[in-house]
Amino acid sequence: MAALHRVAHRGYSAVAPENTLPALAAGVLAGATFIEFDVRTTADGVPVVIHDRTVDRTTDGAGHVAELTLDEISGLDAGSWFSPAYAGLRVPLLREVIDLLRPYAQPRVELLLEIKPPATREQVKVIIAQVAEAGLLDRTVVQSFDPAVVRLAGEAAPEVRLGLLRHGFDDGQVEVARALRLRYVNPDLRAVLADPATVAALAAEGVGVMPWTPNDISLWAPLVEAGVAGLINDRTGELTGWSLARGLG
Ligand code: G3P
Ligand code: CA
Repeated sequence: MAALHRVAHRGYSAVAPENTLPALAAGVLAGATFIEFDVRTTADGVPVVIHDRTVDRTTDGAGHVAELTLDEISGLDAGSWFSPAYAGLRVPLLREVIDLLRPYAQPRVELLLEIKPPATREQVKVIIAQVAEAGLLDRTVVQSFDPAVVRLAGEAAPEVRLGLLRHGFDDGQVEVARALRLRYVNPDLRAVLADPATVAALAAEGVGVMPWTPNDISLWAPLVEAGVAGLINDRTGELTGWSLARGLG
């Protein structure tokens, strides 16, 4: 059976605050084959790694990432909301995340870089340029829920692999994948369980499907049975053990 990608969702986010350097490092150490993280751009044009549109849930601050400067975001505590053990952690710069992951990016670990919409052409270019400067374009998949952002990423770096995030599969998902020259279509896990025929049709085109976010271990076997290329979840350690025990690693 083919190897199953183990994707650390926002890093190993069961054990450390999502999208922080310790979570991303823990994902590597726990055996992930892809480290997934989310990129947004500050008011002064700096790519940072944070999931939500606002800083409210995952820091001690308030406001929209796009309306805050890097200085303002850098002063926030991004760890205490998760546990006092992580008090004082900062929202990382994309550049810091790349520096952290770069030594691990051969041969096992790849980057699954999600660009959160909205993102302008210039913002996408800056993000892609940082990956390119680190020499990691060939170790990175750039994904987004917004097909326009995926297209901008492909225009910024024609050689980079692209992924489209979805809730359910689109009508004509294979044609969408062809038109956007996707390597991955990554939907809600329920779409995979409901429609394994589309997973097979995409696989026949060389397009992998990696659903999010199966944290419940009882879902892993049915999803593998449905033909997925990987699983994106918060429980990297367990997923690694489970996969290797089944010869999927
Ligand atoms: O990579 C899949 C997953 O990260 C998409 O959803 O909301 O966790 O960014 P979200
Ligand atoms: Ca994400």
